[in-house]
Amino acid sequence: MRQLEGKIALVTGGGSGIGAACSTTLAREGARVAVTDVDLDAAQAVVASIIAADGHAFAAHQDVTDEARWVAIMAEIQSRYGDLTTLVANAGIGIRGGILDMTLTDWRRQTAINLDGVFLSVKYAIPAMRRAGNGSIVMMSSVAGLRGAPGLAGYSATKGGVRLFAKSVAMECAMANDNVRCNSVHPGIIETPIWSKMDAVASDPARRNAPIDIGAMAAVGVPLARVGLAQDIANGVLFLASDASSYMTGSELIIDGGMTGGTVRRT
Ligand SMILES: NC(=O)c1ccc[n+]([C@@H]2O[C@H](COP(=O)([O-])OP(=O)(O)OC[C@H]3O[C@@H](n4cnc5c(N)ncnc54)[C@H](O)[C@@H]3O)[C@@H](O)[C@H]2O)c1
Repeated sequence: MRQLEGKIALVTGGGSGIGAACSTTLAREGARVAVTDVDLDAAQAVVASIIAADGHAFAAHQDVTDEARWVAIMAEIQSRYGDLTTLVANAGIGIRGGILDMTLTDWRRQTAINLDGVFLSVKYAIPAMRRAGNGSIVMMSSVAGLRGAPGLAGYSATKGGVRLFAKSVAMECAMANDNVRCNSVHPGIIETPIWSKMDAVASDPARRNAPIDIGAMAAVGVPLARVGLAQDIANGVLFLASDASSYMTGSELIIDGGMTGGTVRRT
């Protein structure tokens, strides 16, 4: 028996990196998956790989900051598969730069995607989950949502917001006794395209820094001394999406190679 048989899932930002790994993993375990992304070609490529493996999925263009689009996406999921049971609120961007360099435009753009988009995802997912009679919401936060990160203050603020939003959603659902759970996931340094886009998404194209060497970062700052893979995160998301985690809500799952556990000094 596969772990997500009968589940109906939505993964935002499902066209790349962690979202792509989550989409293929949920589908592999029997969920029917809506893979949405602002990059429709990328979402379609992920769906093609799911279908090639005999899974069920469809791709749709979605900007998570667009409220009207949320209504349409939920209607499409409903008409294709039925009531949503599983949400992976994953879409996010990172804009790098010191606080004094960050423009208000960049701050707001990052917050719109990373935090407003998560709010909208929950607002439109919960009614469907309540109709379904069960639900699991997984929000993609970060280690940067647990502790400060120089040069990533705006990003860190959004991810810290996601962390506590997840707990509040969990409490509201528990109060409603609706069988909907909500947890946050906190990846460390994971090898995905996000690292090469961190400056490209800044509104000021003149503000470009050297590429980020995540291997070197991990060698110094990660006790396991290596970067993580998108699949490492998808494995945790699968657990939170499945009934194996049925007694977990309002929790945070940290998958970071030990970054937040302590410091290992190698000489
Ligand atoms: N990679 C890491 O080391 C790491 C660490 C901690 C947290 N995260 C978080 O994991 C999530 C996924 O990141 P990733 O590393 O896979 O990055 P990624 O850039 O590979 O994937 C992000 C996806 O989100 C999509 N996206 C961007 N803006 C969107 C919007 N407005 N609406 C819908 N989709 C949008 C992009 O097109 C892309 O396909 C993000 O929330 C990120 O903050 C990543």
